[in-house]
Amino acid sequence: METEKKMQTQVELTDSDLSEQIKAVTKDSHVRAENTELMLAYQRGNVSLPQYKLLLCSLYEIYQALEEALDNNSNHPSVAPIYFPLELARLESVERDLEHFYGQDWREKIVVPAATKIYAHRLRQIGKDNPEYLVAHAYTRYLGDLSGGQVLGRITQKSLGLKGGEGLSFFSFPGVSSPNLFKQLYRSRMNSIELEEEERKGMLQEAVRAFELNIQVFDDLQKMVSVTERESELMHTTTRNRCTRHTS
Ligand code: HEM
Repeated sequence: METEKKMQTQVELTDSDLSEQIKAVTKDSHVRAENTELMLAYQRGNVSLPQYKLLLCSLYEIYQALEEALDNNSNHPSVAPIYFPLELARLESVERDLEHFYGQDWREKIVVPAATKIYAHRLRQIGKDNPEYLVAHAYTRYLGDLSGGQVLGRITQKSLGLKGGEGLSFFSFPGVSSPNLFKQLYRSRMNSIELEEEERKGMLQEAVRAFELNIQVFDDLQKMVSVTERESELMHTTTRNRCTRHTS
């Protein structure tokens, strides 16, 4: 009986934990994110260079906005417990990867797809108006990077034949020795945040929105890659036709 009571209390506690609620409420969105063309390409083990380069461009915009908003709100009572710039910050690593692929003048060369601008705009907006919602965005990106993201790194390396970790800094977290233990710590920090009921509801909604924004970014990116591929196919066909005419 006593044990039962304890178990009940534990279940109740778990049910009200933000980390559990956020995972539950984004479960379907996670499946949808996994099923975007880009993520399916990853799961098939063949990501292309144009896909990866565009992804890095988007990640640059996203992490610039996210990390600036987190830095500006690092003392906010909801943000402070999950503020881990040394362990998690991705901006500099994305910059290194962009320099690897685009060269020193990468800042002039990168492109920012429309859906990425919308995502970055949302991050800046909540950084000003609802800093507590940053928890939902930091969770979606960083815990994702520490989970499935680790496999994505290995697939990128294999698909593109990258050597010595070059162009792959984004996936590496030198300040995190065990992603699983770190995720546990992160979840317990999330659970320590005190929220009014309305704030909690808003945060859970924002987490679904964060996944949705990521899905839009992936879809947008895939459309751009497909257009580029079709254009280059067309150019090849035109060149081949010209060559055939010349030689005949
Ligand atoms: C967790 C796989 C894409 C966000 C996880 C976990 C796996 C995984 C295996 C660990 C689950 C657990 O510990 O219980 C994948 C695969 C993906 C993918 C294979 C695509 C190929 C994404 C994307 C996002 C994302 C695109 C968000 C933008 C998350 C988050 C978690 C997570 C936030 C932590 C869940 C939690 O423990 O609360 N993913 N993922 N994932 N993933 Fe993904």
